[in-house]
Amino acid sequence: MSKPIKTRRLVLRELDDSDAPDLARLAGDWDVARMTARIPYPYSEALAREWMATLSEGEFVRAVTLDGTLIGAVGYVPNGDGSAEIGYWIGRPWWGHGYASEAARALVRHCFTTGGFKRLTCCHFDDNQASARVIRKLGFRPSGSNSAWCDARQAEFPAQCYELDRPIAAALWRLTA
Ligand SMILES: CC(C)(COP(=O)(O)OP(=O)(O)OC[C@H]1O[C@@H](n2cnc3c(N)ncnc32)[C@H](O)[C@@H]1OP(=O)(O)O)[C@@H](O)C(=O)NCCC(=O)NCCS
Repeated sequence: MSKPIKTRRLVLRELDDSDAPDLARLAGDWDVARMTARIPYPYSEALAREWMATLSEGEFVRAVTLDGTLIGAVGYVPNGDGSAEIGYWIGRPWWGHGYASEAARALVRHCFTTGGFKRLTCCHFDDNQASARVIRKLGFRPSGSNSAWCDARQAEFPAQCYELDRPIAAALWRLTA
């Protein structure tokens, strides 16, 4: 078990099999799944277990927990060029409390320090203004638009892409709130 990442209110920890029911219920919410690229709809415990068992090489995923309760997930997939694509979701009951921003900020710091990535990328569908806000608050800059596949909606949709370079002094770096 790797060391959990702690923030002011949250603990980001490894996922395990016992998280499947929470993942299926929270990520299986249409309003969560439809805004992500890879969460199918409907989502089930079996699909959640399969996803955990088949993460790709180098892929990093952590449960976002609040007082011991799983409320979402964050992670990254290496792009293969020294950069990584980050992603996040928070269960609907906990939206609007700054948890995505807090968890994603910790993920970004982890990517630039422990992960050693020189650049991070992130995309959101055009109709996801909450995610746009989170990304911009983290300091990402727009890098263009494209269209991206959405498993839940089984179609491609226009998406906005962003990137963030590693700060020069990443080892000493402190992200401010
Ligand atoms: C996007 C998501 C992660 C945000 O989670 P959250 O914990 O509510 O996010 P935060 O509270 O940290 O911040 C949300 C910000 O978006 C803003 N916001 C929320 N809804 C908005 C909307 N419809 N339009 C514009 N801004 C919006 C909030 O005001 C807040 O900004 P502020 O801190 O400046 O007030 C969550 O809604 C989610 O999981 N959605 C489904 C999955 C998803 O979209 N994942 C990201 C894929 S790119």
